[in-house]
Amino acid sequence: MRITFCCADSKPEPWLEGLRAALPQADVSLWQAGAPQADYGVVWSPPQQFFDEQPGLKAVFNTGAGVDALLKLRVAAHTQIVRLDDAGMSVQMAEYVCHAVIRHFREFGAYEADTRAGQWSFRKPRSRADFPVGVLGLGVLGERVARSLAQFDFPVHGWSQSARQIAGVRCWHGTDQRDDFLRQCKVLVCLLPLTPQTENLLSQRTLGLLRPGGYLINVARGAHVVDADLLALLDSGHLAGATLDVFRQEPLPAAHAFWKHPKITVTPHTSARTLRDESIAQIARKITAVHSGQSVAGTVDRDRGY
Ligand code: NAP
Ligand code: GLV
Repeated sequence: MRITFCCADSKPEPWLEGLRAALPQADVSLWQAGAPQADYGVVWSPPQQFFDEQPGLKAVFNTGAGVDALLKLRVAAHTQIVRLDDAGMSVQMAEYVCHAVIRHFREFGAYEADTRAGQWSFRKPRSRADFPVGVLGLGVLGERVARSLAQFDFPVHGWSQSARQIAGVRCWHGTDQRDDFLRQCKVLVCLLPLTPQTENLLSQRTLGLLRPGGYLINVARGAHVVDADLLALLDSGHLAGATLDVFRQEPLPAAHAFWKHPKITVTPHTSARTLRDESIAQIARKITAVHSGQSVAGTVDRDRGY
């Protein structure tokens, strides 16, 4: 079996060594123009040329959870697309989101500023009941995040495409229930895949439905948010703040208003990183399964877009 590796932004050698160790019977090599046809691809943001020159791939394994960039490319219809299915990402995402929610709820940013100024002062404790948190997307990452938030006794709501049941989470689904879901929430966490249906979903109208003093945490994709609408809602005071890990253009351009906005916390797309060892182990298991004709979790439905 031949495997070709084509991942932008990753040092190839450790991946190649890991894949060779996990699949000793396979011929694993770094893709380059003109490389021979492989059976399987391990990819992140490959160029279109990769797929044009590899029309016979049986499957490609994405080294991330989101496949929005991959689905913009022309990929042969018979090539199965498989996303990373957790592989250590959901616990990172739960840490990141719980940290952001708790930091805002407990006003730790303001406490840090006070103590840096040598001030020993207290703020009135806030009511958890007044901080319902909504999670958009209840998939591999969203469900783990919603469950983790519920552990801290926040009222938690979740919204997905199809109906879901999660202990401790009030679940909503479908476009018909979206606005009612949003009206319940003070904090909104975005963990949707980027699809034509979800692009620009977080606009003046939808974010305007959050409770006054609302807070946005976007850890999905930058194009879910209409940047100018978010800034307007922060400046009008309807939203109290935002924590943003993902942006329309990455790295976030130096002149972008998000960098210096006093109500925005920016992180550099780091909320849930691809963990190499876990990912290699998962991809190797799945290549073996696909090669022997079995189905695998994380297979992307191209019509659905995720
Ligand atoms: P997933 O398992 O595919 O789950 C997607 C969830 O979104 C599902 O619950 C799905 O509903 C729901 N959904 C999709 N389209 C919808 C729509 N039109 N209306 C309502 N609900 C919709 O994805 P995941 O693994 O949790 O990852 C989510 C996203 O996180 C990825 O696509 C990626 O963009 C982003 N991500 C970011 C980072 C980072 O470091 N910032 C890291 C990893 C991933 P159903 O349950 O009904 O299908
Ligand atoms: C990262 O953003 C991913 O989709 O894995």
